Amino acid sequence: MSDDSTDHYFTAQPASPDERRTLPVVLDGQPYEVETAGGIFSPGRIDLGTSVLLRTVADPPTGDVLDLGCGWGPITLTMALQNRQATVWGVDVNDRALDLLRRNAERLGLTNVRAARPEEVPDDVRLAAIWSNPPIRVGKEVLHSMLDTWLPRLLPGASAHLVVQRNLGADSLQEWMARRYGADAAFESAVGPFTASVSRLASAKGFRVIEVTRV
Ligand SMILES: C[S@@+](CC[C@H](N)C(=O)[O-])C[C@H]1O[C@@H](n2cnc3c(N)ncnc32)[C@H](O)[C@@H]1O
Repeated sequence: MSDDSTDHYFTAQPASPDERRTLPVVLDGQPYEVETAGGIFSPGRIDLGTSVLLRTVADPPTGDVLDLGCGWGPITLTMALQNRQATVWGVDVNDRALDLLRRNAERLGLTNVRAARPEEVPDDVRLAAIWSNPPIRVGKEVLHSMLDTWLPRLLPGASAHLVVQRNLGADSLQEWMARRYGADAAFESAVGPFTASVSRLASAKGFRVIEVTRV
């Protein structure tokens, strides 16, 4: 990842050259070749946090499910492979990442993937699951606003699983969500009241997997 502020992986049009390369990866236990490029998150390998998340969570349910901040798609593609009855929304603000996800879904013959910018997801979509390796580096304000936007779209009883590095504030993010969405908080989202229970599902290799379940 570049430290140049003009070319963070979360810009819409990264400034770095769009040199495509193929990367051998294992997704849902099978070997595949995917396409990646510079200017997106972790183009050279599946990120360790992403691997921890994918090892921890059970197969996704049927229905609309979301990978919030999809990058080239390791999480989206895994969800889509694990449950072909699920409609998997891979959402990102980086257009290059979305293009790669579309191409990778096609390479893998997956017809249940929807690559979209956040505003392109129809307002009436409600989510049976959210999996995310969220963009901590965007800063708390943007991150919190992303969570306020997407978590309340979970169906009752549905869960979000977020993987966050311990050194990048996983525990304080968990505490923030528990305060914000706990029963006492009466959080009013844009789509109505939202209450959730928040807990740590797993801890491995310096990462936490946080579970947020809509009450
Ligand atoms: C830590 S990366 C994870 C990428 C991919 N899921 C993976 O596991 O390799 C976070 C992603 O969130 C995206 N992102 C940043 N701001 C966003 C926003 N407001 N809405 C959706 N995605 C965003 C970034 O562009 C980046 O691709």
